[in-house]
Amino acid sequence: MPIISAKNITHLYNKGTPSEAVALKDVSIDINKGELVGIIGHTGSGKSTLVQHFNALLKPDSGTVTVDGVDIWSSKRAAHDARFKVGLCFQYPEYQLFEETVYKDISFGPGNMGLPGDEIDRRVRRAAEYVGLQSDLLDKSPFDLSGGEKRRAAIAGVIAMEPEALILDEPTAGLDPAGRDRVLEMIRNYRERTGSAVLLVSHSMEDVARLADKVLVMNNAGVEMFGTVDEVYSHAQRLRDIGLNIPQISKIMYILSSKGYDFGSAYTVERALELITGKAGVRE
Ligand SMILES: Nc1ncnc2c1ncn2[C@@H]1O[C@H](COP(=O)(O)OP(=O)(O)OP(=O)(O)O)[C@@H](O)[C@H]1O
Ligand SMILES: [Mg+2]
Repeated sequence: MPIISAKNITHLYNKGTPSEAVALKDVSIDINKGELVGIIGHTGSGKSTLVQHFNALLKPDSGTVTVDGVDIWSSKRAAHDARFKVGLCFQYPEYQLFEETVYKDISFGPGNMGLPGDEIDRRVRRAAEYVGLQSDLLDKSPFDLSGGEKRRAAIAGVIAMEPEALILDEPTAGLDPAGRDRVLEMIRNYRERTGSAVLLVSHSMEDVARLADKVLVMNNAGVEMFGTVDEVYSHAQRLRDIGLNIPQISKIMYILSSKGYDFGSAYTVERALELITGKAGVRE
């Protein structure tokens, strides 16, 4: 059974007004337990709207969303449970840090779950460890942290709820390259250690290639493609037509092949290096 399943969901903003906008149109998708799915698509294609349906923040105008087999709008209880089973971290989540200390911020979610104090404490410390925040930072004000640390503290707050599916909406946006790498590394670690499903909304097709098992491509409020990284990225022309840029390294590999140096296709620099050094018999 998939952890998240959307069936024919449609979502309109400002329904019945002149500014009515169809943000999702008849979208169906299954996310399996433990899967890492990258979500890409042009600005305004519906990515954020879609993921907010997965934890009952938004209600579809038609269609159903099930989490662990339960229709999340079938009862109050079901919607409530979905908010804890599916953890959603918004874009720029650090704007939602508001407590006096990092510790209190991270414990906010598990606190709302009504867990006993020692369990909350265990979760806060474990979440901080997952995201690589030193324990001495827990007593600081979130406002004294660096940009990258704030981002990781905000993500830790969602992780501390130990959701079965973790959704991150543009988690590396606005970070410097080092901060970005740390967040990506954290996502990989978290997934490996917990086996939780992860949905990663990203503008970087290279980051998605590096981490994801599957890729969901949104286009104009609908699903354009859903498949493995290789399946989806092999449609380079179509992806370009719908406003997406294939990774630079893929373009370089393509140019090399058109000049007679065919090493195969690669979507990450690491993979390209493997193919080139392997084939050329060159040692690094
Ligand atoms: N709160 C809102 N009120 C009205 N329209 C909205 C609202 N949020 C989003 N929209 C519209 O819904 C559509 C889908 O937006 P959404 O934010 O889901 O796209 P997105 O793929 O996440 O884009 P981005 O890559 O820029 O984050 C867009 O046309 C957008 O203008
Ligand atoms: Mg968005």
